[in-house]
Amino acid sequence: MTLYGVGLGPGDAGLVTVRGKRVLEQVDVVYSPGRLSRSVATEHVSEERIGDLDFPMTRDEEKLRRAWKDAAAEIAPQARDGDAAFVTLGDPNVYSTFGHLRRTLDAFHPDVALEIVPGVSAVTAFATALGVEIPAGSGLALREADDGTAPTGPDRMVLFKVTDAPATHEGLVEAGYDVVYGRRLFMEQGKTLVTEDPSEIDERDYYTLAYAEQADLETDLATAKFDATAQADGTGAGDESPEVRSDD
Ligand SMILES: C[S@@+](CC[C@H](N)C(=O)[O-])C[C@H]1O[C@@H](n2cnc3c(N)ncnc32)[C@H](O)[C@@H]1O
Repeated sequence: MTLYGVGLGPGDAGLVTVRGKRVLEQVDVVYSPGRLSRSVATEHVSEERIGDLDFPMTRDEEKLRRAWKDAAAEIAPQARDGDAAFVTLGDPNVYSTFGHLRRTLDAFHPDVALEIVPGVSAVTAFATALGVEIPAGSGLALREADDGTAPTGPDRMVLFKVTDAPATHEGLVEAGYDVVYGRRLFMEQGKTLVTEDPSEIDERDYYTLAYAEQADLETDLATAKFDATAQADGTGAGDESPEVRSDD
C-alpha cells in the first residue's frame, strides 16, 4: 500500500487541501514529527489514529540518522500492510523533515510506495499574510536568516528561521532593503504578528519569517498607472490599452 507525505499548510486546519484532508481521513495511521503539526492533524484525524514518533532535539548528525532510521522502521510496516501518512507543516518538499524520511525509506525500505500531497507553503502564504504582492515578472529568492544573519543579493527575498530579527534587520537595512516580519502566520497555535519593527519580534520564535525587498525597485505594471482621479471618474489614466493576459 502507500505512505503519503501530506503537507498541512502553515498551521491553520482550514488551509489543509481537500486532497490532504481526504488522505488523512482514509489512512490507517498518521505520523507527525512535532507538536504543531500534530495539533493541526488532530483537527482532521481522531487521536487514536495518530502514531507516535520520537525525535531528539539535536543537531548531532549521528543521533539524527539513528532517529530517522528508527522512524522509518516504525512507519515502513504500517505502509506495507495498509496506508499511512506522515504530515509536515507547509509543503513536504520545501525545507521539510519529510526529505529525511524519504531518503531513509529509499535506503532501507525501498519497497514502500510513496505519494506526496502538496501543501500551502509559507513561501507563498507569506504574501497574503503580509499584504505583499509579488508581481508577475519579478524574481523571488528563498533564504535562511537564522542567528541574526542577513543574506543579501536578490531584489526580493523570503527569509525563513528569523530567530534574531533585530540583528538581521540591521544587516538588511544597511544593504538597502525594506523588511516586513511575520510570526506564526495562519497558525492556530500562538499569536500571529505582522510588523516592520524588529524590536516587536524580540523573542526567538522559530515560526518567524521576513520579506525583504530592495527599497528602490521599479515596477512597470499596466494597472499601476491608475490614480485616484481615474478611480473617481471611471476612466483609465493611461491612453494606450495594455495587452492583458489572463492565463494565470
Ligand atoms: C523548516 S521550514 C519549513 C517550511 C515548510 N515546509 C513550508 O513549506 O512552509 C520552517 C521555517 O518556515 C517558516 N514558517 C513556516 N510556517 C510559518 C508560519 N506559519 N508563519 C511564519 N513562518 C513560518 C519559518 O521561518 C520557519 O523557521
